Amino acid sequence: MSTSALATLLLVLKDRILKGPKTKSQKAGIFALLSFLFLVLKYPNRAIGTRARPDLDGIAWGGMPIIGNTYTILKNRNKFLQSIVENFEKLDTDVMSTTVLGLGRVIAINDPVNLEHIMKTNFENYEKGYILNSTMSQVLGNGIFNSDGSLWKMHRKTASHVFSTKIYRALIDGAFTDHSLQLCAVLDRAAQAGKPVDLQALFLRLTLDAFAKLSFGLDIDSLGKEGQDTFGSSFDYAVVATDERFMNPFWRVTEHLTTKAFNMKKAVQVVDSYAYNAIKGRRSETAAQAQVRQGPSGREDLLDLFMKWRDDDGRALSDVELRDVFINFIIAGRDTTAQALSWMYYEVMRNPAVERNIWQEVDKLDERPTYEVLTKDMRYSNAVFLEALRLYPPVPRNLKTAVADDVLPGGIKVQAGDRIMFSTYAIGRNKKVWGPQAPEFLPERWFEGNSPEIEKGTLKNSTHSNAEDHTWPKVRKESTFKFSSFNAGPRICLGQTFATLEALTVIMMISSKFKFELVPGQDEPEPVPSLTLPMKNPLLVNVHRRH
Ligand code: HEM
Repeated sequence: MSTSALATLLLVLKDRILKGPKTKSQKAGIFALLSFLFLVLKYPNRAIGTRARPDLDGIAWGGMPIIGNTYTILKNRNKFLQSIVENFEKLDTDVMSTTVLGLGRVIAINDPVNLEHIMKTNFENYEKGYILNSTMSQVLGNGIFNSDGSLWKMHRKTASHVFSTKIYRALIDGAFTDHSLQLCAVLDRAAQAGKPVDLQALFLRLTLDAFAKLSFGLDIDSLGKEGQDTFGSSFDYAVVATDERFMNPFWRVTEHLTTKAFNMKKAVQVVDSYAYNAIKGRRSETAAQAQVRQGPSGREDLLDLFMKWRDDDGRALSDVELRDVFINFIIAGRDTTAQALSWMYYEVMRNPAVERNIWQEVDKLDERPTYEVLTKDMRYSNAVFLEALRLYPPVPRNLKTAVADDVLPGGIKVQAGDRIMFSTYAIGRNKKVWGPQAPEFLPERWFEGNSPEIEKGTLKNSTHSNAEDHTWPKVRKESTFKFSSFNAGPRICLGQTFATLEALTVIMMISSKFKFELVPGQDEPEPVPSLTLPMKNPLLVNVHRRH
C-alpha cells in the first residue's frame, strides 16, 4: 500500500474512532496509537526514515518494524564481530542489507571484489562522511582517521614523509630496541618473582612509549612506571565509549543521563593535556634546542612536519589541529600494534609447534636486530604476525557513506546516503576467501608455494614437522582486498612497515629470552567492542626464562 493510501485510511479510521465524546487525554492516546500504527505499516521491517528497497529483499537481514535491525545489533553488541561472521555464513551471502536507527540503510559487504570497488575503483564515491565524523570527533577531532577530501589529503601527504627506510633503520637501532629491552627487564623481574603479568597491558605501554617519543618527542615512560597508566586508561576509555555511540542512536541524550558524558569529558581532557604539553614544549623550543633534538641528520618527527605545514595562504595549523594529529597517530601507533602482538602471543601459547619454530628462528639471530635481519631472516615470525592480523585485525570493521548512487560489481544498487560496512574480521574468517580452514591459525598459508586456502594435511613446510633447521620459503604478497587488515586503496595504512618492523623487533627480543604460559583458569580472550580490537580481560601469563 502506498504511503498516501495508508495515511488516508488512518485518517478515516481516526475520524470514526474520535467521533463521540472523548476526553483530551483519550484523544491524545488514540492519536498516538494511530500514529504508531501508521509507522508500523509504513516501516514494517526497516528503520524509520529509510526508503523501501524491494530490490534488496533477497539479501535483507530480517528487521523489525520502525527500528529495523537496531535491536538485534544492540542485543549482540558484545559479540558483534562474531555475529557478523555467523550471519554471513548462515545466509550464505557476501552482501547483506540492514537498516539501523541513526545510520539508515547499511549494506554490509564481505568479499574482496566488492571491497576493491569501494576502496579503490570508486574510491571517490565512498567517504567517511558526517555520521562517522560527528560520532568520533570528540576524540579524533578532524584528524586523518576522521577526515575526507582535501583535509585528509593534507594529513596523508604531510605524514607520509615520516615513513622511510632511513627512519626505520634509525628506529630499529634506537626506539624499538630500547623499548623492547625495557620490556625484557620487566619480564625478567616477573620471571624472577614468579608473578604473572598482563601481556596486553605491557605491549600497550611499549607501543605508546615508542610512538609518543618518536612522533612527538614525549617521554611518557609508561613501561618504567608501576601502577596505573593514566594516559593509557583514559585513552582506552575514550576509544571504547566512542565505539558504543555507533550502537546507540540516542547517545547524545543517554550519555547525559548517566556518568558517561562526564567520564568521557574527563578522559579526553587527560589525553588532551599530553598533546597540548607536547605542542607547548615544541613551540617554545629554540633553534639550538631543535638542532640537538633532531641530531646531526636533522631528523624531523611528525610534530615538526605538521608544525611546518602551511596552506596556500600561508596559514599554519592551530594547537587544536595539532592535537588532532597527536590523538589520531597515537591510536594508529599504539593500539593496533600492541593488540596484534597480544592476539599473536595468545595463539603462540596455544600452538606449541608454532612457538618452537619461532624459537628456532630467533635463536639463530644476533642479539641486536637490524633492518636486514628483520626483513630477511624472520620469515616464520613474519608469517605468524600476518596470520594473527588475518584472524584478529586491530581495526575490525569500517563504515563508508555513498556520495552518489552506484552499482556494486555483483549488481546490487547503492543509493546516495547508504552506508557500506565491511569487517576485516569477517573477511579474514570468510571460508569462501580463505578456504575451509579459515578459522584456524596456520602461519604456513603465508609462504610462497602454499595456497592461502591450504588444508592442514596438505601443508608444505608444516609447523607440525619437527625439522630442526628449517629455511622457510619467502612470505607471499597477498592482495590487499583479500588481506585487508591494513586497509586497501588510497587510504591503505601508512604505518604497515613501521608496525611490522616494530613487532618483529619485539618478537625477536622477547621470544629469544622468554617462554610464556597462559595463567590457567582464565576465560578465553575475547574482543571488547571498540574502534580497535582490545581483549576484554587482561592477558595473564606466567613468564619463564628460556636459558
Ligand atoms: C598492526 C598494526 C596496524 C594495523 C593492523 C593498521 C591498520 C590500519 C587500518 C585498517 C587503517 C584504515 C583505518 C580507517 O580508515 O578507518 C589504517 C590507517 C592508518 N594507519 Fe595503520 N595500522 C597499524 C599500525 C599503524 C602504525 C604503527 C601507524 C603509524 C606509525 C599507522 C598509521 C596509520 C595511518 C596514518 C592511517 C590513516 C591512513 C589514511 O586514512 O590515509 N598504522 N591502519
